Amino acid sequence: MRPQSVRETGLNLQFELVTPDPTVSASPPPPRVDDPREALRALRQAIEQTMLVDQHRFRSRLRGIERVAHQRAVDAPLSKLGDDVERSRSRRAQRLANLPKPAYPENLPVVEKRHDIADAIKHNQVLILAGETGSGKTTQLPKICLELGRGVAGLIGHTQPRRIAARSVAARVAQELNTPLGQAVGYKVRFGDHVSRDTYVKLMTDGILLAETQGDRFLEQYDTIILDEAHERSLNIDFLLGYLKQLLPRRPDLKLIITSATIDPQGFSRHFDNAPVIEVSGRTYPVEVRYRPPGSDDPEEEDVAFQDAILSAVDEVWREGPGDVLVFLPGEREIKETAESLRKHHPPGVEVLPLYARLSPEDQMKVFAPHGRPRVVLSTNVAETSLTVPGIKYVIDPGTARLNRYSPRTKVQRLHVEPVSQASADQRKGRCGRVSAGICVRLYSEESYAARPRFTDPEILRTNLASVILQMKALRLGEVQDFPFLEPPDYRAVRDGFATLHELGAIDANNALTSLGAALARLPVDPRIGRMVLAARDEGAMDEVLVIAAALTVQDPRERPMDKQDAADAAHTKFKVETSDFLGYLKLWDWYHEQARHLSQNKLRKLCQENFLSYVRLREWNEVHQQLHSLVTEMGLHHSGMSNYQAPMSNQAPMTNAQRARRRGGARH
Ligand SMILES: Nc1ncnc2c1ncn2[C@@H]1O[C@H](COP(=O)(O)OP(=O)(O)OP(=O)(O)O)[C@@H](O)[C@H]1O
Ligand SMILES: [Mg+2]
Repeated sequence: MRPQSVRETGLNLQFELVTPDPTVSASPPPPRVDDPREALRALRQAIEQTMLVDQHRFRSRLRGIERVAHQRAVDAPLSKLGDDVERSRSRRAQRLANLPKPAYPENLPVVEKRHDIADAIKHNQVLILAGETGSGKTTQLPKICLELGRGVAGLIGHTQPRRIAARSVAARVAQELNTPLGQAVGYKVRFGDHVSRDTYVKLMTDGILLAETQGDRFLEQYDTIILDEAHERSLNIDFLLGYLKQLLPRRPDLKLIITSATIDPQGFSRHFDNAPVIEVSGRTYPVEVRYRPPGSDDPEEEDVAFQDAILSAVDEVWREGPGDVLVFLPGEREIKETAESLRKHHPPGVEVLPLYARLSPEDQMKVFAPHGRPRVVLSTNVAETSLTVPGIKYVIDPGTARLNRYSPRTKVQRLHVEPVSQASADQRKGRCGRVSAGICVRLYSEESYAARPRFTDPEILRTNLASVILQMKALRLGEVQDFPFLEPPDYRAVRDGFATLHELGAIDANNALTSLGAALARLPVDPRIGRMVLAARDEGAMDEVLVIAAALTVQDPRERPMDKQDAADAAHTKFKVETSDFLGYLKLWDWYHEQARHLSQNKLRKLCQENFLSYVRLREWNEVHQQLHSLVTEMGLHHSGMSNYQAPMSNQAPMTNAQRARRRGGARH
């Protein structure tokens, strides 16, 4: 094979020497060549100095040209390829020339160790960085990478568990590099792509990076990936850890840095062939922890005691001095209720800001906006990791979160309000003490803290395996049995998962995803519930099915105490429908909402007690229903935003001021 046409083209294969790029072994510029084989060799070398995202394509074009070169003239494609290669090379050279030169803030533990960290990145494909909250992992690592010349041939991809973190970290890193957001540092989240051609560091949610594997199997746009907050062990993170494990040998030029709180970094290291671990200890400012458990143990009075404890804690920290307060709450309902209590309890000057996943990006970013009034931020655990909100001096942590948990016995995934792990509690505490000393008030006892599990169970251990398999199929991640999970799921759970998917018609006899399965994979709920929702859409029974589906996701609100079973059964007769337990749920739902329409909250609570119904669980049911309802409406599966079964919320408000004052034995303020 003699690609003679190269000479005939008179192609100028002289390439300019780019400044040596530390990420690529420096190769001399290709000489001006007359020998066609030399010319092709030079082109091949030149390709190595192009942007990573172009290299694979260039190489296959070159191979295509070589294959046919002995049969026909290839001047035109070769010349076009030469031009494209040159353009990409000069883009890379330009990026190198414009590479931002980071400066580092003093006193951050990660900054003090930055030479060790840089060395470890240089000499290893994978590095695990473990450090306490506020040590500088998130904001300083991308800069250390830039200093090594990473980010030039491909982007530095930097993942965060949530979009508010992705955006705010991007803003902070951009600010530290003195560049406008969206240029050297950009971000991509579900609601917007703010990455430009000049971007070196791209912040994104881990969900976005996972979705990108669909169109870019080799993640070629990146030369470095920072998987931040890996200890969270969401399904997305576990999928990425497995995906990257398979990808790394095929992308020897790709660097991976995994950061985690100081939680079992050795587990990550083992997963990546004993990758080195660097631990960074220490933090900048002290945080004082105070334990203030609420008074009542009665679960039916829990919400009232809970509200009181929050108000007292806010009062307590404000006696220490001015500063913003961050309160962690399990969900939107608790946020609404607490906002209401705070408004009534405090003078009008106090600003109350909610923060939860479904808020618009603009509303979420309000917590970072400067303000003149005392502020209380009420947040779900979206604010638990990564965030630095400079004004926050105080954290109030009731120590609970709403978590999904699958029960293999009942075969349903349920939302539970559960005590958070020590790791979560420490992350929450870490949201203050970042720019000055802070105080964290825990609304539980020190013994309760000590008795909690060290870490939150990884999501994969809490999720219906059917749902995991479904998502893996939709993401084309391969077979669950072969996938290199950090902790592979139990064999029996996998088998049950497949059985469920067959039963639902989500996979066919060959275990391939059906179109129904693909639709199910898009619904972020338990596949059985998802299947009900899809059927309801087809049968025009969405209103009713959403009520029933929500009922199946929470604990049964009907109570049957051992010593009063007959009385309970008698009280429950009015909700009974002989032909169907499901219709019984609807009857109960109607009854409850009818009462809620005209009774005060206290009367309603009492009536529930008399009827052997758990008021707390009824409200939980209501909450899950609302979530499902807005989900299917958002996805266009439901005709309207209002449902016949939408719960009236007016009487669901927490206690009035007067009621609260009575309970406390006197008004405050
Ligand atoms: N937006 C900001 N405004 C002011 N200071 C900030 C900001 N972001 C970060 N900092 C400072 O940098 C420090 C390190 O923040 P960084 O987010 O890098 O820490 P981290 O180790 O990733 O913490 P975490 O475990 O909480 O995610 C903070 O404690 C704070 O002092
Ligand atoms: Mg961080």
